[in-house]
Amino acid sequence: MGADTTALAKVAHVAHVDVTQADQIEALRKEIGSAFDVIFLVAGIYGPLHNSVIEATDEEFSQIMLTNCFGPIRLAHRLLDRLTAKGTLAVMSSHRGSITLNTDPGLKLDLYRASKVALNMLARTIHADHPELTVLSIHPGWAATAMGTLDGTVEAEISVEESVTGMASVLATHAGTVRASILIGRASRCPGNSRKNFLPLTLAYTGSICPCKA
Ligand SMILES: NC(=O)c1ccc[n+]([C@@H]2O[C@H](COP(=O)([O-])OP(=O)(O)OC[C@H]3O[C@@H](n4cnc5c(N)ncnc54)[C@H](OP(=O)(O)O)[C@@H]3O)[C@@H](O)[C@H]2O)c1
Repeated sequence: MGADTTALAKVAHVAHVDVTQADQIEALRKEIGSAFDVIFLVAGIYGPLHNSVIEATDEEFSQIMLTNCFGPIRLAHRLLDRLTAKGTLAVMSSHRGSITLNTDPGLKLDLYRASKVALNMLARTIHADHPELTVLSIHPGWAATAMGTLDGTVEAEISVEESVTGMASVLATHAGTVRASILIGRASRCPGNSRKNFLPLTLAYTGSICPCKA
């Protein structure tokens, strides 16, 4: 979409696509052509501010599911042949997409949570069908983007730089390891853990998580 990707373009191939538009996929495939070690699909929306499954219209629910889950996963499937043999597919998830961690009452995030948990499930399915690939769902931490600050109305936990540096480190560590996991990369300071920045916690499909919590 319209993000400023000038700096990124110096180290990576940058292509723009609206993930909700299936008819843009073929043009993207032609544009990017070659094989990549890592393809990371980042697009996502917060959805309506109420984020309530009770208040949501059919259109609001459809839009967030299309943008955060169906669109990226449909695109991912069409880009699998653009990955190297043991390539890594990463999708931008959220710790809000963890069923296990959904224990705090009163957090009005129904639509967003539903879209990210569905994204995680379909990402895992890609790994089941293509076990030679590494498939990662990554949580960027609560980062100070437009979404993370609700357009400047709340304070996030980490800067964009800290988030991106951490995700790059998670990708470097896990790319090509032929694993499918829900990686919760978060800027946490866990007791007994000396790594200061990004701590990847692994959530197994069984729901078990690293006991270390931020
Ligand atoms: N910030 C956080 O704390 C946080 C926490 C957990 C997960 N995430 C996830 O991180 C990802 C990036 O979010 P952000 O914090 O950077 O939010 P943001 O500031 O609102 O940016 C969202 C990005 O997604 C793009 N996008 C939206 N709809 C799209 C579509 N239909 N097709 C293609 N691109 C689309 C936007 O492009 P345009 O600018 O062109 O619209 C923008 O680049 C999202 O998946 C979000 O769910 C963020």
